[in-house]
Amino acid sequence: MNNNLAMKIENLEKSFGKGESEVSVIKDANFSLNKGEFVALVAPSGAGKTTLLMMLGCVLEPTSGKITIGNEVVYDNRWLVKDDRELRRKKIGFIFQAHYLIPFLNVEENITLLPYQNREKEEVVKPRVREIMEYLDMTDKMHNMPSELSGGQNQRIAIARALANNPDIILADEPTAALDKERAISVVKMLKKITREHNVTIIMVTHDDRLLPYCDKVLTIKDKKIDIKENEDDII
Ligand SMILES: Nc1ncnc2c1ncn2[C@@H]1O[C@H](COP(=O)(O)OP(=O)(O)OP(=O)(O)O)[C@@H](O)[C@H]1O
Ligand SMILES: [Mg+2]
Repeated sequence: MNNNLAMKIENLEKSFGKGESEVSVIKDANFSLNKGEFVALVAPSGAGKTTLLMMLGCVLEPTSGKITIGNEVVYDNRWLVKDDRELRRKKIGFIFQAHYLIPFLNVEENITLLPYQNREKEEVVKPRVREIMEYLDMTDKMHNMPSELSGGQNQRIAIARALANNPDIILADEPTAALDKERAISVVKMLKKITREHNVTIIMVTHDDRLLPYCDKVLTIKDKKIDIKENEDDII
């Protein structure tokens, strides 16, 4: 048993449609990620990045293959977990390109929605959320509405929300696409810090080469095949 393993993918395949209209997107994907790694996922539009992310997050069913999260095999040609929603709620955090905060809930309510849905107790959730907000330097915005915050602040709240249920893995689909360069780099630095200090594995889709030096590994999809490289440019 490898206790440092965050996720292992074996012979993973995904195609959409059947028969003549079948479109193969991912073929024979094999890779492992360790706890605390910050991983970039880079490929042209339509190459299958979101498709891969959604399979890793147990949202989209693969066509075949095997997915192990931590030490649990969650998919082996079929879902092996009893409740995939519970698995997602407990182990995986999502951050999207647009922040998707709920507009009629304030910042605190947005962040605590999932932990309370998981039936976590208020005395556990409150201090954790306070700690995350201090970490993101957003404590003074706790009772603001999303519409009262800037794009970068909203994205930080989306990160806080992804952290609020203490996930092992965070899947981020172009989290910095809506931000200017400076804010994008500050969000990425924050994500890297989170991997180090919370031992969370983060996979981040990006089209921005300037963000790659912050990552430990780079995943690419080329001709449906996945390649993984240690990032030699990892200078920061
Ligand atoms: N539900 C679906 N049904 C049929 N085809 C799909 C479905 N979802 C995705 N695809 C196809 O799979 C391929 C990969 O799509 P995907 O969204 O994963 O690309 P992407 O790399 O995330 O692109 P982008 O950078 O534009 O977000 C595309 O050809 C797309 O048309
Ligand atoms: Mg996409």
